[in-house]
Amino acid sequence: MKNAIKKILVTEEEIKQRCQEMGRQITEDYKNYEVKPLLVGLLKGSVPFLAELMKYIELDVKYDFMCVSSYEGTESVNDVKIIMDLNSSIKDMPILLIEDIVDTGQTVKTVKELLYNKGASEVKVVSLLDKPERRVVDVEANYIGFTVPNEFVIGFGLDYNQSFRNLPFVGVLKEEFYEENN
Ligand code: IMP
Repeated sequence: MKNAIKKILVTEEEIKQRCQEMGRQITEDYKNYEVKPLLVGLLKGSVPFLAELMKYIELDVKYDFMCVSSYEGTESVNDVKIIMDLNSSIKDMPILLIEDIVDTGQTVKTVKELLYNKGASEVKVVSLLDKPERRVVDVEANYIGFTVPNEFVIGFGLDYNQSFRNLPFVGVLKEEFYEENN
């Protein structure tokens, strides 16, 4: 699998260190909140990031998942369809929405609106990666792990055709691999 990688952008060690810093920052920012934030991970890409980050949040936080897709599903919200919804009410709760990458920004913008419609008191976005060059809607993450260039990235939750999510680092796929499969 590793021979399909053109270059590594962010190493396993850098991800761990950055998660420690972000966890400390979130702990500081939310320590005085009476209701602690619910971490909402967007499936499937956020799973490794959520698992690493939450180890360093020293607050009594709970987590839940949502699965949304632009292409398939049952309920449509703008262009984003909900495949799997949250398990419990989020009325009057602060939410930390955990994403793998903010690319065009459409997913985060729509899911934020959806969470506010469900009664969340506040929604902040935590993203492992930010690709600002691709943004088409006006939305920014509140906490960003790393800014990446306008290249297709894989690993640490990010996939190409559902593969490569289990790589422990973030990298760029070799073009020939990409072309072969298209
Ligand atoms: P959006 O364009 O900001 O709505 O991003 C939607 C989703 O596209 C992200 O949550 C990722 O799952 C996926 N995505 C965007 N850019 C990349 C990439 O470079 N590699 C892998 N997945 C990506």
